[in-house]
Amino acid sequence: MPLVPLQRIGVLTGGGDCPGLNAVIRSIAKPAITTFNSRVIGVLDGFEGFVEGRTRELSKLDVCGIINLGGTILGTSNKGDPFHFPREDASGVTVTDCSDLVLENYRQWGLDSLIAIGGDGTMTIAHKLSRMGLRIVGIPKTIDNDLEATDITFGHDSALSVATEALDRLQTTASAHHRVIVMEVMGRYAGWIALGAGVAGGADMILIPEIPFKWDAIFDFVWKRSKGARFSIICVAEGAKPSNGEPVVRETDIKRTDPVRLGGIGELVAGEIQRATKLETRVTVLGHLQRGGSPSAFDRILGTKFGAHALYAASRGEFGTMVSLRGRDVVTVKLEDAIRRQRLVPSDSQLVFTARSVGISFGDG
Ligand code: F6P
Repeated sequence: MPLVPLQRIGVLTGGGDCPGLNAVIRSIAKPAITTFNSRVIGVLDGFEGFVEGRTRELSKLDVCGIINLGGTILGTSNKGDPFHFPREDASGVTVTDCSDLVLENYRQWGLDSLIAIGGDGTMTIAHKLSRMGLRIVGIPKTIDNDLEATDITFGHDSALSVATEALDRLQTTASAHHRVIVMEVMGRYAGWIALGAGVAGGADMILIPEIPFKWDAIFDFVWKRSKGARFSIICVAEGAKPSNGEPVVRETDIKRTDPVRLGGIGELVAGEIQRATKLETRVTVLGHLQRGGSPSAFDRILGTKFGAHALYAASRGEFGTMVSLRGRDVVTVKLEDAIRRQRLVPSDSQLVFTARSVGISFGDG
């Protein structure tokens, strides 16, 4: 399809941040400005800023020297779903459909396309808006790696490195004090971070949402290790749950695009181990350390590829799509396919098999 240079391209980053967002913004803005002579309009704070009409035009200088920068120069928010837009006043929070304001601002700003960088929440919004006529290309980001239509999202690799290094550090202190240490990582309903970091960081047990655990299996495992290695490292995903239970919810907030915020399973697992086995147990919640800081080389490269390909996909008129990594190639997939379901860890995946074969327990028997 022939390239049709776009005049005014909107760019936004939505949902929770992750390392690599600035690498993507840079790889959209640089060719857009220098090769296509387009104007790049950054929408501030994701769809929240879109509804509220907040923008900042990006120059070549704005995107200079940001490939290694964490966060996002555009700001982001996980609270601005235009179809369920929260407004707070003295009487409380009301949620209304403000998608008409997005359409109005899109026209008023003279945009001829929008590149939306985000996770499943952002892609779902992008899909709805594209059905209403907005010309959108999505770019998948999230540390959770839970988007079905791409082999990997950028941000995940950086989070894995942080979590792996944390496990390395916890291992030396757990071993020195002969303790059980439980480390809780993020990931929502997917166990990719816990599984990847657990394997790379030599965890003894990995608890993930896709493989519900049994309390007795955990107690037996750490008890046996207390007689041998004399320490245990457990890497638990925030969405992990016992076979007869539900994930632990930290809070529910209707202002968020995804109202449920998980968290607390690490504390629960550590407390139960200490109660049942009397072994000295500690917990570390890694939290937002996984999202902050510089992107890894992998995420810089993937983010840069995604940004450039999204710009060219928009210039070819491939709207209603998301760029995606398939093998080594960046391709475009339909937004509706990208949001069809979450990408979870198959319990019979090679990595689960590999983990089990080196003696890692999943607490399931
Ligand atoms: O989706 C990314 C993520 O970091 C999840 O892993 C986590 O559950 C959530 O965002 C945390 O959200 P917040 O930044 O609002 O605490």
